Amino acid sequence: MDHLSLCPLVVLLLCLVILALSKIFKTVIQDQKKSTADIPPGSHGFPVVGETLQFMLSVNSGKGFYEFVRSRRIRYGSCFRTSLFGETHVFLSTTESARAVLNNESGMFTKRYIKSIAALVGDRSLLCASQHHHKILRSRFINLFSKKSTALMVRHFDELVVDALSGWEHRGTVVLLTDLLQITFKAMCKMLISLENEEELGSLQRDVGFVCEAMLAFPLNLPWTRFHKGIMARGRVMEVLEKIIRERRNETNSHNNNYREDFLQQLLAVDSDGSASSSDHSTKLTDAEIKDNILTMIIAGQDTTASALTWMVKYLGENQKVLNILIEEQTQLAKQASHKPFLELDDLTEMTYASKMVKESLRMASVVPWFPRLVLQDCEMEGYKINKGWNINIDARSIHLDPNVYSEPHKFNPSRFDVRT
Ligand SMILES: *[C@@H]1O[C@H](CO)[C@@H](O)[C@H](O)[C@H]1NC(C)=O
Ligand SMILES: *[C@@H]1O[C@H](CO)[C@@H](O)[C@H](O)[C@H]1NC(C)=O
Repeated sequence: MDHLSLCPLVVLLLCLVILALSKIFKTVIQDQKKSTADIPPGSHGFPVVGETLQFMLSVNSGKGFYEFVRSRRIRYGSCFRTSLFGETHVFLSTTESARAVLNNESGMFTKRYIKSIAALVGDRSLLCASQHHHKILRSRFINLFSKKSTALMVRHFDELVVDALSGWEHRGTVVLLTDLLQITFKAMCKMLISLENEEELGSLQRDVGFVCEAMLAFPLNLPWTRFHKGIMARGRVMEVLEKIIRERRNETNSHNNNYREDFLQQLLAVDSDGSASSSDHSTKLTDAEIKDNILTMIIAGQDTTASALTWMVKYLGENQKVLNILIEEQTQLAKQASHKPFLELDDLTEMTYASKMVKESLRMASVVPWFPRLVLQDCEMEGYKINKGWNINIDARSIHLDPNVYSEPHKFNPSRFDVRT
């Protein structure tokens, strides 16, 4: 009796054991299959967390987050993989890979939608939009880089720099990055929304600063986190922009004469013409799109420009020869243009050495150290198998300092751009 009644149980147990065994067996086989295929070298680190801890340690160490990438590239070569925040990341550092991935001719690489970034800059931002939507937004924002806008920008920037420099003479110590952030912030706000009130600029800059900090923070929205601070700051920025848009519409409708030549005005102008030429409905932007993208432009224009300028001043301080040639060129130009109150766009084309110096600074500083993409299909890169769903990162900094691409890469030498143009 006992014997019989136990039988089904034993069978069931046996079945379960076999099922479990076959599962284990299968995963072992799969693992073997995976490891015999040539996936890039690297360490997966601990289960689940991968090398996230090492990455965070590097972020918080004095050397900065790039150290994590640098040390692994030295250990594993120009293509390696790691596991961060539960995902596989591959880093690539050859010009061929960079071209293939960034040009996207194969159509196999896309931008990643990062939820925490979308929460901060807005999911209608150019940074987060889908490819179709991205095209529409881009066609609307291309005006920002028109000749007319650039010419205005040159003037504003010159005005701000001249103003700042005259103040520096009477100050003991100037923290360059802080001052440059302020200059680039003012320049962006003037160009985008004509905001010039010092008090409003101050509080807006503080809030945009919180948003920027939160972009690098762990995306945990609890009252005491940096991420939360960023989300709250985003709310305040949106309110300010909303108010500005509302006032601007009112101004435009009431036809008073203080027509502004900023980017917001261009967006709203098309908006109001919309009824006349409404054939192209899709190009009309909503207020939410305008607000998200103005915040995005402020962030993009301010931070990278200010860091690049800071590095540039450092390199010039260390290279007297370069500085002398630059001063020579600028003095010549100052003589020719002495009748003009401010620099003009045409003056920039005369600064041939200065523009090489800018390129060289951008090469050495690599303000954006790597470019992330998501892999849409299994493929092969640099002889290694790359799986669909992995993240691929083009390590721009390493390419910029590759002796096979640039001779004496650690030497600040603007003349290396003499032949290339
Ligand atoms: C690359 O091409 C694919 C296919 O056309 C597209 O889905 C993807 O969004 C493109 N990536 C980028 C970054 O534009
Ligand atoms: C629009 O502007 C006028 C003055 O130009 C002002 O009286 C009115 O309150 C404004 N309306 C809104 C909604 O801001």
